Amino acid sequence: MTEKLSWDQRYRSGEHLLDQPAPLIAGVADGLIPARALDLASGTGRHTLLLAARGWQVTAVDASRAAIGILEKRARDLNMPVEVCVADLEKHEFEIEPDGFDLICDCYYLQSDLFPAICAGVRPGGLIIAIIHMLDDSADVKPMNPAYLLRSGELAGFFAGWRILHAREGKPVDALHKRAVAEIVAQRPIA
Ligand SMILES: C[S@@+](CC[C@H](N)C(=O)[O-])C[C@H]1O[C@@H](n2cnc3c(N)ncnc32)[C@H](O)[C@@H]1O
Repeated sequence: MTEKLSWDQRYRSGEHLLDQPAPLIAGVADGLIPARALDLASGTGRHTLLLAARGWQVTAVDASRAAIGILEKRARDLNMPVEVCVADLEKHEFEIEPDGFDLICDCYYLQSDLFPAICAGVRPGGLIIAIIHMLDDSADVKPMNPAYLLRSGELAGFFAGWRILHAREGKPVDALHKRAVAEIVAQRPIA
């Protein structure tokens, strides 16, 4: 609850309103045929709107009502249809439809017990793109609850048996963030 409240306050105070999409999402989306996508913990929708602009049918989920309100208004102003849902993923208020999505994005949100549902939610042949903060003791990053941070090698472990198209750990290529990230683009096997 504290976490949700603080996100609402951050969004209402104008944080994250002019976000550029993470280059990894933009780059991967460039090479894909638009289909059905899920943006988990979407925030105000920088990736939702990027995908919708490229013709994807996107569902955005976030626990912050403020974030989803901003996303809805942005989508309306741009005349882009997006499906939105205010839901606390930790409380499993949103069920990821099995085999429901050609692409699932999980950016800067770690909930380890959600990975089985994420894996089941990607259609065979579909992709997950995840960019998630890691433990990082550099002097220029703020302390953060380690429960929400990945250890080295941990992200790939959630996608055992998948085709790994991209994996990287290190400083983010995303103007918004400083803390180290783990990135993965993985494809669910067809058989
Ligand atoms: C760092 S922001 C990332 C937003 C977006 N994915 C991006 O890359 O711009 C983390 C997001 O997770 C959302 N969040 C935190 N806890 C959540 C929960 N339990 N269920 C759903 N969303 C949650 C916050 O509201 C916030 O929008």
